[in-house]
Amino acid sequence: MKRVLITGAGRGIGQATARAFAGAGWQVLALDREFAMDAVGERVEFDLRETGRIAGLVASLGTVDALVNNASVLYCDPVESIPEEHRREILAVNLEAPAALIAAVSPQMRARRSGRIVNVSSVSAFTGHPDLWYGITKAGVLNLTKSWARALGPHGVLVNAVAPGPTRTRMYEQLPQSRRDEVMRAVYSGRVCEPEEVAAAILWLGSACPEYVNGTTLDVNDGSYPR
Ligand SMILES: NC(=O)c1ccc[n+]([C@@H]2O[C@H](COP(=O)([O-])OP(=O)(O)OC[C@H]3O[C@@H](n4cnc5c(N)ncnc54)[C@H](O)[C@@H]3O)[C@@H](O)[C@H]2O)c1
Repeated sequence: MKRVLITGAGRGIGQATARAFAGAGWQVLALDREFAMDAVGERVEFDLRETGRIAGLVASLGTVDALVNNASVLYCDPVESIPEEHRREILAVNLEAPAALIAAVSPQMRARRSGRIVNVSSVSAFTGHPDLWYGITKAGVLNLTKSWARALGPHGVLVNAVAPGPTRTRMYEQLPQSRRDEVMRAVYSGRVCEPEEVAAAILWLGSACPEYVNGTTLDVNDGSYPR
């Protein structure tokens, strides 16, 4: 049975992704620091701010056939006064942890000449964003994707990304109504994305997409590129 490690799998898009992989017959390693009651998969309780412990964690998990870097944090701080601890946390969880996880799983994937990595970015990567460091890290995830695709492509490993638009999770629901209204004006259908829709795109990239799809970003956003 193939094994997938999914970060932020305790709720939201990560939880839906865990369900999608499990439904497709995968063994799910669900990493999070807290879990919803109905979270799916074998629980790996871990705080991704502890980036220095990631290599050891991955070594303890055994075979990982696919990695989904989904966990992230967002704070609605005014751009002029972002607390230092928020900046550090956003950088660690949204960018440094995914980089460390890829570095940790890639040797075994290279050795097998097989493996898939899917990073969860955001439409915020493509525009100026009110949450400065969130936008910066989500743009960074796209280059992280391309750089690792370049490094691992010759070894049979695919690294792709998804860039979701507004999706019905706690992260989206914590935004002020004015921000949600602004984002929703750009969505063609006028409705919020369901976590299962993003999960289906992640599952496809993580398991079934053609091997020639590498280093790319799949926008799951119904046209919603916020201004
Ligand atoms: N919801 C949206 O509108 C939206 C839009 C674009 C992109 N995204 C992206 O989708 C991904 C999933 O977000 P979501 O909407 O499901 O958010 P969410 O807040 O519901 O879930 C995020 C998960 O990450 C976990 N997490 C946060 N910090 C952690 C840490 N230090 N260690 C371990 N786990 C940690 C949380 O516990 C949570 O389970 C994120 O990368 C987010 O940036 C979401």
